[in-house]
Amino acid sequence: MDSEQPAIDVKNLTVSYGPVPALLDISLKIDAGQLVGIIGPNGSGKSTLIKSLLGFVKADFGEVQLFGEDVEKAKGRVAYVPQRGSVDWDFPITVREVALMGRYGKQPWWSEMSAEDHDIADYALEQVRMADLRDRQIGQLSGGQQQRVFMARAIAQGGDILLLDEPFAGVDAATERAILDVLESTREAGRTLVVVHHDLATAAEYFDALVLLKQRLFAYGAPEHVLHPELLSEVYEGKLRIFANLQSGQAAGGGV
Ligand SMILES: Nc1ncnc2c1ncn2[C@@H]1O[C@H](COP(=O)(O)OP(=O)(O)OP(=O)(O)O)[C@@H](O)[C@H]1O
Ligand SMILES: [Mg+2]
Repeated sequence: MDSEQPAIDVKNLTVSYGPVPALLDISLKIDAGQLVGIIGPNGSGKSTLIKSLLGFVKADFGEVQLFGEDVEKAKGRVAYVPQRGSVDWDFPITVREVALMGRYGKQPWWSEMSAEDHDIADYALEQVRMADLRDRQIGQLSGGQQQRVFMARAIAQGGDILLLDEPFAGVDAATERAILDVLESTREAGRTLVVVHHDLATAAEYFDALVLLKQRLFAYGAPEHVLHPELLSEVYEGKLRIFANLQSGQAAGGGV
């Protein structure tokens, strides 16, 4: 039964693109209904971990299970918002069509999108406050607006697990708040969220638990345990500015 299974179960996962593993012997379980952040420096394997959960990259060793099933089998239950830079924005498609893409695969190939599919896509655009721009080509949006459209696509898809790779990168404070509201309401609906995040100053406030990665799993658990000055200094190789209030369990940092 789903209720007895972790939403995400990573066991001894090792992934390599070349001679050096991007991820080495990662094991972690994430319970359903959690909002989990992944932190770590550039190149530490955050996107690779997300891609492993999607079955986009092959494991050298170990395995990933979603609700007790192999990734291949559980694929339809996972929605994904890719890291910005990895998307072709010149593709001629409107905002509304991107949101509707979330509904592909929800019905037989021969049928048209239903009125319900359109309603779901429109509602998703409203949630990320992009409904007004629904007829705009995505290439004609700002970076933060594009990010929100991709969130709408994932929301419209409606899987049990939502994976987001740096959804807050390069967005203004109002957009960050709008995205966070959507993440929180998604969690309240019982879905599981895994979010790659760079800003250590907000990590404790936003997430139920944090995963600290640098090829290996350095820490996983409550933010106040993971955002430990010595641990962060080891993982970020002392390049992190650590402020005094870390002592009180609140992390503030940056400049990595
Ligand atoms: N397609 C690929 N081919 C070869 N090497 C790759 C590929 N994708 C990632 N890598 C390497 O694997 C390591 C982990 O990359 P990954 O993209 O997972 O890091 P990340 O933590 O997401 O970094 P960032 O914060 O910059 O997004 C890096 O050393 C990277 O150069
Ligand atoms: Mg990345």
